[in-house]
Amino acid sequence: MIRQLSDLTDDEVIATYQVDDRSKPHLRSNFVSTVDGAVEIDGQSKSLSTKADQEVFGKLRMLSDVVLVGAGTVRAEGYKPLRLGAERRKWRQAHGLPENPTLAVVSARLDLDPVDPVLAEAPIRPIVLTHAAAAPDRREALSEVADVLDCGESEVDLAAVIATLAERGLPQILCEGGPHLLGALTAADLVDEMCFSLVPLLAGPGSGRITAGPDSTAARKLVLRSALLADDGTLLMRYLRAA
Ligand SMILES: NC(=O)c1ccc[n+]([C@@H]2O[C@H](COP(=O)([O-])OP(=O)(O)OC[C@H]3O[C@@H](n4cnc5c(N)ncnc54)[C@H](OP(=O)(O)O)[C@@H]3O)[C@@H](O)[C@H]2O)c1
Repeated sequence: MIRQLSDLTDDEVIATYQVDDRSKPHLRSNFVSTVDGAVEIDGQSKSLSTKADQEVFGKLRMLSDVVLVGAGTVRAEGYKPLRLGAERRKWRQAHGLPENPTLAVVSARLDLDPVDPVLAEAPIRPIVLTHAAAAPDRREALSEVADVLDCGESEVDLAAVIATLAERGLPQILCEGGPHLLGALTAADLVDEMCFSLVPLLAGPGSGRITAGPDSTAARKLVLRSALLADDGTLLMRYLRAA
């Protein structure tokens, strides 16, 4: 049943997105899309986000141990240091969590700038997930500001990414994209949950979908767990991997 977002208290919205067992590794992906399937307008997702989408986006960060993101999204969206607002930090402290989640960036080429505030000014030392054959000079430069971890020999093994994060005490993984990372996670069947905001917009031709990468025949079945409708027509859906 679709519930009206404005009928719910903050705690009820949070409960809608809580997992049963926080100790079990769980990869939740979160995306926003227009009705005609666009992942961005003018290169950025904020052009299509709505207040309700932003609200859930913030709550999902609050509930996570680690925010996992592809280097392309960090570059395109101009990610800022991952620091939550005071209320959400307080909520996390009250629930025995560090004030902020950790940021983890997936990159094969290590084309990330170590002086970028997203890394250099992060409240918790970020993690960069790469592979053993990544450029040594870039690895050295990034190691000044982040833990650079190898997951795979010549390419990033995403199952190893999840295992590595869980071993570091970060089992609740929120993947904020982008499309190439989601495509690879889907191909490897590693998506446990998909949160999806459908905003009442038509972007027209030109934009990509929320998933990208090499063709794959693998269709993954999901079940709808919840659906919230905001006053502006944004539909906020939570899907889980089908048993
Ligand atoms: N609507 C939404 O909710 C939403 C969410 C996120 C992003 N976006 C939009 O999506 C666009 C960016 O798309 P994108 O596909 O380029 O994003 P992306 O998946 O974040 O970035 C691709 C890059 O991330 C790294 N990467 C991703 N998957 C990898 C894998 N399996 N193995 C190794 N490296 C991997 C690589 O970085 P290196 O090149 O450094 O090796 C790759 O070039 C932007 O326009 C952004 O605004 C929209």
